[in-house]
Amino acid sequence: MTSNKGLPSVPLHPIERTLLLYLSNVETKGKWADLNSVVAGSRLSVDQVRRAVQWMKSKELIELQEEDAVFYTLGLEGKTAAVEGLPERKLVKLLEASGGSLTLGALSEKMGSEFSIAFGTAKKNGWIELYGRDAQLNRSKIREKEEEELLLEKLNEKEKLASPEISQREKEVLSRLISRHRGLVNEIIEKNVRLKISSQGLEASKSVNKDEIDEITPEVILNGSWRNQPLRALDVTSAAPAYFGGRKHPIRMFIDEVKEVFVSLGFEEVEGPMVQSALWNFDALYIPQQHSTREMQDTFYLSNVRADLSVYDKEINSVKASHENGAGTGSLGWQYKWSKEEARRTVLRTHTTAVTIKYLSDNKPTEARVFCVGKVFRNEKPNYKNNPEFHQIEGVTVGPGLNVRNLIYIITRFYSKLGFEKIKFWPTYFPYTEPSLQTMAYYEKKKRWIELGGMGVFRPEVTIPLGVKNPVLAWGLGLDRLVMMRYDLNDIRDLFGANLGWLRTASVI
Ligand code: PHE
Repeated sequence: MTSNKGLPSVPLHPIERTLLLYLSNVETKGKWADLNSVVAGSRLSVDQVRRAVQWMKSKELIELQEEDAVFYTLGLEGKTAAVEGLPERKLVKLLEASGGSLTLGALSEKMGSEFSIAFGTAKKNGWIELYGRDAQLNRSKIREKEEEELLLEKLNEKEKLASPEISQREKEVLSRLISRHRGLVNEIIEKNVRLKISSQGLEASKSVNKDEIDEITPEVILNGSWRNQPLRALDVTSAAPAYFGGRKHPIRMFIDEVKEVFVSLGFEEVEGPMVQSALWNFDALYIPQQHSTREMQDTFYLSNVRADLSVYDKEINSVKASHENGAGTGSLGWQYKWSKEEARRTVLRTHTTAVTIKYLSDNKPTEARVFCVGKVFRNEKPNYKNNPEFHQIEGVTVGPGLNVRNLIYIITRFYSKLGFEKIKFWPTYFPYTEPSLQTMAYYEKKKRWIELGGMGVFRPEVTIPLGVKNPVLAWGLGLDRLVMMRYDLNDIRDLFGANLGWLRTASVI
């Protein structure tokens, strides 16, 4: 076994160790030191010192003092003014050069954009007087250097003046310069950090072992030093910044779970586009062309986009016959004139049944178990429980002799695998199924029943024209409410927003 002797009571990172030893040094011990001197003395980088200071502060190994340090520096225009003089001084020089007087027009022309500020200040100082249109120097009022100019020169020389180096009088002049014109003098406020070792730090510094092995490298293993030198302890309880890697959206995670369940029940996944022709979204499902669900207020139609249905001539003829006269299924159909143009309209699919019915038509299986999970769209006003886009869990099973009891069994198994044990069914109506059922599940945690969706046995008017001979059990269930339950959300819109805080931290309950 390795020897654990000599482990410090406080686990220290190498940079903490260096800093602690530096601060416990005879010269620095017990004295306040600013960050720069610590950086210079400890030979760590500024970033390393900053990091170590954070850690050591939380371990109470050091004491910290933070105060604002105020500095003044020259701005761009201040630098020019320090060399060339302030605008009012330039104006004085110009007047001097032309014998002490000039017309305002001439002055303004010579001074350009600085004229008005130079003139204003010179006038206020009493340096010039106006006689008609002439400006004249008032030499008695002009000193060789004004306080502002002296200070600008001082700043230019020293580059930076810290608050303690400035007299009260100078402070007033500085604030005048700052408020006079932007870019002359900058006031910079820096956080000044001073630190010293605490008594706990001093104590800890005594048990610092410089021979500690920080990293298990191949050398450390090969030369056997790991056997007798102590290894650095890691403080696994110390605070670390939260790290948010990429993660799937809660809806995606739940969809994956649903897919797992269906696959475990022997189902295969099918997919289809979100934009569908009315043929697959409505007509193939024996939904009459005047049916209210097709109306604009429920369905998002794509304007000016018509589907090219020429490859489906055969299907179209049978669907048309089914709607108009029952196509020999023993039914009379809906008894109206079916329009191909109406079937060519395109929609954002209003249910995923469009995908499974197309699968049946394309494959005409005698036996099948397929499912589809995807987005659907309905023209609804968004509120806490409805959103114009949501998700459905769709599926069909095809096989000889299948009936509604098999359907109830499959749906019960499915929900039980997702954790919903108590569910109930009751009759309802869909144009494409007979019998039709609706279902609800009991959510134990909330002691509430929630609506899950619809299902039934496809009518012969749907399946026979598409060439499917055996009974088809079909369902289309809501997904989003289940996700809301899982995440304890009360508003469906939260699922579709970009609330990063929630997306990063949401955990499955
Ligand atoms: N399509 C129906 C809906 O969107 C659900 C359903 C699917 C009903 C299949 C019966 C059969 O609500």
